[in-house]
Amino acid sequence: MLALLAQVRSGGRHLAPALDQALHGLEPREARAFVTDLAYGTLRHARLLEAALAPRLANPERLPERVRLALLAGAYERLVRGTPAHAAVHAWVELVKRGPTRQRRLAGLVNAVLRRLSPDDLPSPAGAQSLPPWLFTALARALGPEPAERAALGMLAPEPLWLSAADASAATARLRSEGAEVRPGPLPGSMRVRSPQPLGRLAAYREGLVQPQNPASLAVARACGDVTGVRVLDLCGGHGIKAAALAAAGARVTSVERDPAKLRAATANADRLGVHVDQLAWDLATPPPLAAAPVVLLDAPCSGTGTLRGHPEIALRLTPEAVARLAHLQGQLLRSALACLAPGGRLVYAVCALTADEGPEQVEALLARERDLRAEAPALPLEGTLAVGPGRYILPEDGLDGFYLAVLSRRA
Ligand SMILES: C[S@@+](CC[C@H](N)C(=O)[O-])C[C@H]1O[C@@H](n2cnc3c(N)ncnc32)[C@H](O)[C@@H]1O
Repeated sequence: MLALLAQVRSGGRHLAPALDQALHGLEPREARAFVTDLAYGTLRHARLLEAALAPRLANPERLPERVRLALLAGAYERLVRGTPAHAAVHAWVELVKRGPTRQRRLAGLVNAVLRRLSPDDLPSPAGAQSLPPWLFTALARALGPEPAERAALGMLAPEPLWLSAADASAATARLRSEGAEVRPGPLPGSMRVRSPQPLGRLAAYREGLVQPQNPASLAVARACGDVTGVRVLDLCGGHGIKAAALAAAGARVTSVERDPAKLRAATANADRLGVHVDQLAWDLATPPPLAAAPVVLLDAPCSGTGTLRGHPEIALRLTPEAVARLAHLQGQLLRSALACLAPGGRLVYAVCALTADEGPEQVEALLARERDLRAEAPALPLEGTLAVGPGRYILPEDGLDGFYLAVLSRRA
């Protein structure tokens, strides 16, 4: 566990693949669920837990990373999961004792600190977002202080398993026959699922009836409108999750993506789902060599600040400079997207980010430059959305990812 946390916090790895590797072969299901919650929970609450531990440590920054992580994970168990000291402390002390010789003498410190922690050590609600202050300020500037606080707290909750399906009733029946609990999600075709087995072992998944997808991501694909028989360019297609939803809705989709490995993964996934998507490997710093299309989706690379629930490591690494670089790239990609939008066509711009630079300000700058574009109100049949500038935010509450979404139409 300490090695896993270290790989993510200081080693630059993403949590999801590192955790997959760590869980490989781990049984039973309860043990997998416990390790998963411990890893995500510790990283999501990292700043909050550091603040709770700080008064009890003379020089926390001088402690070896492994020992700091044992303290963080132990504090997560004690303060967030509410595990009593007699059940939560011993394992972390033992892990520290198994470390390099010069760390072993710190086992006593870990024992004493974790035993004495109490809920009173948790900082006030203002600190409860566990975000770096600059990032909370950025969210508050984009959303307003109160929605920013709700968003930050919403992203501390565990991530539900969301699936989407072209045929929700067939998928639900199949999932239930395999012992899964299925509840309808907030959009038609989306489901909130508790599965007794890892997703990859479910026949419903292997047979292509379901796709893991947050409802907010599905809502972005749906914002393209009625795409039956329509040619759609899916720019920055990534692993092709939105492309697959569009193809399943009857669109003729071409995904454009810089990374060939992602295109290969997208093809394998589309094959599993039984849908077809054309592909082009291309760096969208310049417009792709494709005929203009009536619908263009640009799901741009972004800070991912709407997805901290599933990617808590982002909050530990992101800098304001990185946000500024991403905003510059998004401006470039929007120019390429416009170059392939037909007259009378519709451009959907989306980012899973909650900073103003990447969302409303990006789109406002575009509208000021391009006089033949007009913002439409995006069709977003979700609760918890917020109109800001020319588009809308989907707030990351109730297990949804946070997105900014704008729908722009070009004069015919
Ligand atoms: C937000 S992800 C896309 C997710 C995808 N639309 C989906 O629903 O599965 C952004 C993608 O943009 C790609 N990307 C980043 N810069 C690019 C560029 N200059 N040209 C083309 N693709 C780029 C990244 O590789 C990444 O896959």
